[in-house]
Amino acid sequence: MTKAVHKVPYTTTNAGIPVESDEHSLTVGDTGPVLLQDHYLIEKMAQFNRERVPERVVHAKGAGAYGIFEVTNDVSQFTKADLFQPGKRTEMLARFSTVAGEQGSPDTWRDPRGFALKFYTEHGNYDMVGNNTPVFFVRDPMKFQDFIRSQKRRPDNGLRDNNMQWDFWTLSPESAHMVTWLMGDRGVPKTYRNMNGYSSHTYMWVNGGGEKFWVKYHIKTDQGIDFLTQSEADELAGTDGDIHRRDLFDSIASGNAPSWTMHVQVMPFEDAPDYRFNPFDLTKVWPHGDYPLIEVGRMTLNKNPEDFFVHIEQAAFEPSNLVPGIGPSPDKMLLGRLFSYPDTHRYRIGPNYAQLPPNRPRSAVHSYAKDGPMRYEPANVGAVYAPNSYGGPAADVQSFGDPAGWHAAGEMVREAYALHREDDDWGQPGTLVREVLDDAARERLVSNVSGHLSAGVSRPVLDRALQYWRNIDKELGDGIANRVNGG
Ligand code: NDP
Ligand code: HEM
Repeated sequence: MTKAVHKVPYTTTNAGIPVESDEHSLTVGDTGPVLLQDHYLIEKMAQFNRERVPERVVHAKGAGAYGIFEVTNDVSQFTKADLFQPGKRTEMLARFSTVAGEQGSPDTWRDPRGFALKFYTEHGNYDMVGNNTPVFFVRDPMKFQDFIRSQKRRPDNGLRDNNMQWDFWTLSPESAHMVTWLMGDRGVPKTYRNMNGYSSHTYMWVNGGGEKFWVKYHIKTDQGIDFLTQSEADELAGTDGDIHRRDLFDSIASGNAPSWTMHVQVMPFEDAPDYRFNPFDLTKVWPHGDYPLIEVGRMTLNKNPEDFFVHIEQAAFEPSNLVPGIGPSPDKMLLGRLFSYPDTHRYRIGPNYAQLPPNRPRSAVHSYAKDGPMRYEPANVGAVYAPNSYGGPAADVQSFGDPAGWHAAGEMVREAYALHREDDDWGQPGTLVREVLDDAARERLVSNVSGHLSAGVSRPVLDRALQYWRNIDKELGDGIANRVNGG
């Protein structure tokens, strides 16, 4: 008897056992009961019931791809991080996202965009989890949860609510810079390929001699900045909700790999206390005139995920993944985030999320972690505790031990920050309106804001919102008031 030749592989259970049917469950006779012994049917139903992990509490809808980061300029005088050394090429993963919408929400809703990067360096994963904005809405991690609640859905009717958004923003004047940015052209990028990424936060770089610097990253699109007008975005939200996800995938699939050029602003360590703005305030930029951009390298996204869930949905970015040569700064928001991300990953994906393909470092892991749900990497053989006498890993203080830190001492306080000369909430958004936007962009800003304020924002929130815009720029605020009041 000749063996059956299969054109496609035969179906198996998850245990690899050939199944009897892809389409028919096992019954007793034509009308008999479905049998519990049809293990494959039960496995299919049970597996299906468990297909979803919780969506990310923010940044739920996104798209991503793998790529390569190449250093194009020598910045070794500022950092010893291996991925930034001359000539270095490092594999990486990027995920772009909207913030407030859910998994199925349209890509073209007005929202900041996440810009999360994971670099697989020689010394473990370096994650730069930024946005397409150089600033953020709040400057204290205590307010992040409240801010996000005001952007998401109401508890009573499950609807998003402009009134709630403006209520929070106008009671939080530190939001003015980010809100101005968001309501302008860059609040709806044309595609993910047409936007910049920013660390927004200040980070520390440490060079081989132990010298410290403060840095901000600017990752500029090589495709050019482009945006959608509000009416284009509204139409696409109804007709092509996945447009940005598809654009990224199709561009890469057709060999049109998008790229970005990474720059940094570098501030000498000792400049920070006397700088005119608080350099660690996430609602402020460092004007380019003060600290010009220095090129670092280019990232190119050239490989689509072979399975979206495995590589993009299960990707776990965490600002706490900092490698030797890079450290945090005293930005309170950043320090809050260092805790939040690994915590949410343990909940969303499970405590062994770091072993999954997108999160697994490409360098060796010698941690003392062991056990837990779904662990499949064996623990250290020999010793599962430190110190030990049996050749287990030992921290290499000589090579990596310098803490990327700063001097801190004082009373416990809750004040936001010690004030610097030009710290205020209205100055930088005012500069954006008056000195960066042209007449046409200012007109679109007026139109976007007045349209938003005219959709469900009631007094007294509306009055506060008009005053908020007048504080940013009197003429702009008057223009918005005129439009909202039907002028
Ligand atoms: P510059 O004139 O040197 O920089 C202005 C920057 O604004 C541009 O480089 C561009 O950033 C960005 N920009 C251009 N159009 C828009 C837009 N429609 N919406 C948002 N940003 C836009 O001035 P300064 O550095 O002194 O900054 C002035 C203001 O520009 C700041 O108050 C801030 O609001 C904004 N800005 C500043 C950035 C910085 O890091 N200094 C970064 C982005 C915005 P890019 O080159 O990154 O595309
Ligand atoms: C995602 C918390 C501020 C950028 C997330 C997630 C949480 C979170 C819990 C979900 C992560 C996941 O499930 O994988 C916070 C907290 C913040 C904060 C507590 C402030 C205290 C910021 C800021 C930025 C930012 C300031 C940008 C500069 C992102 C990005 C993602 C994200 C890009 C999506 C990452 C991905 O693609 O998987 N944040 N966030 N967040 N956050 Fe934040």
